[in-house]
Amino acid sequence: MGRNKILITGGAGFVGSHTADALVGQGHQVRVYDNLREQVHPAGMPAYLSTEVEFIQGDMRDLGKLSEAVQDVDVIYHLAAAVGVGQSMYQIADYTAANTLGTANLLQAILNTNSHPEKLIVASSMSIYGEGEYSCSECGEVAPARRSAQQVQQKKWEPVCPYCSRAVRPVATRETKPLNCSSIYALSKKDQEEMVLLFGRTYQIPAVALRYFNIYGTRQALSNPYTGVVAIFASRLMNRKPPLVFEDGLQLRDFVNVRDIVQANLLAIESADADGIPLNIGSGQPISIREIAAELAQMLGADVSCQITGKYRAGDIRHCFADISRATRVLGYRPQVDFRDGLAELVSWLGSQQAEDRVDDAIERLEVLGLVA
Ligand code: UD1
Repeated sequence: MGRNKILITGGAGFVGSHTADALVGQGHQVRVYDNLREQVHPAGMPAYLSTEVEFIQGDMRDLGKLSEAVQDVDVIYHLAAAVGVGQSMYQIADYTAANTLGTANLLQAILNTNSHPEKLIVASSMSIYGEGEYSCSECGEVAPARRSAQQVQQKKWEPVCPYCSRAVRPVATRETKPLNCSSIYALSKKDQEEMVLLFGRTYQIPAVALRYFNIYGTRQALSNPYTGVVAIFASRLMNRKPPLVFEDGLQLRDFVNVRDIVQANLLAIESADADGIPLNIGSGQPISIREIAAELAQMLGADVSCQITGKYRAGDIRHCFADISRATRVLGYRPQVDFRDGLAELVSWLGSQQAEDRVDDAIERLEVLGLVA
């Protein structure tokens, strides 16, 4: 692809800014649209944002501003979203407005301005699967239902086979797994994905949904208590406080380095084979939350160990990690960053960072609302 004009919504954020750097490096003209939300950007405009991008400060709820932002662009990355699973369960209207209505506004703006981008890429999420895929020794591959309130109260953390109630073993989740959202955040991500793909089909705009798994890496907002678990644990340890681990810490996730996310983002522009479909973008490797806390504590030389709370956070699923074979086949996506190398890179960046720990307040808030119990 030649030199393009590319819009990144949420381009001042963690994934957006890394993507912007890579695109600028390839000679593209990048426009960033971002509201610089205080929870994510307490100091305002982040120092890391490339000075070579054109910046428009605006919210996804602002159709007028978005209509300016989409003018004359060849490619759009729609990465802007509010991202806290726990927070989405009490800021329901805000999350739905920023994510669902925000995406509707973006599509409306494209239509109203007669823009016809050559590619539209939306940041979807593994959270839309709900529970990941499992294997039952009797029934084969199964998709267990969401864990019941009674089950998690009894601290029976593992899902069971939906047919025979036997114990099941988590396996890599494929894109074909039925979606089963368990948080308002997930629901809004599903809306984003489906709206963009439907819009693309309707108006013949090549559109791709990248279902990101758990992203970590440099620039993840350290003082946002609703961000991803790696940044939260890092911030706790930097403040000499124990990471608070929900459930028993043995839940599995797929942690993918932001540099691999950038790889997938760039490949998505080049390939026509991904048009109209969703793709898992993860590392393909499961790791437990407890292990993450231990690795980080060791790498940071912290003298505190994690605290296993035995509590359940509303909206959480037990295990999910990616089957990335479709992205490998269709995009040529191959994760390059080994988790331990990625953590080491993160730890070296943390050395230059300040982190204000707001996690205790955030968890107290969730507890008052009965969302952590
Ligand atoms: C995360 C992202 C979501 C993204 C999805 C897929 C955030 C806030 N969430 O959701 O945007 O779409 O990955 O990429 O960035 N945990 C603790 N202690 C904590 C925080 C979390 O034990 O202080 C546990 C949670 O209970 C959960 C696991 O860590 O079991 C992962 O949590 P989190 O980082 O919030 O990720 P997801 O909910 O998987």
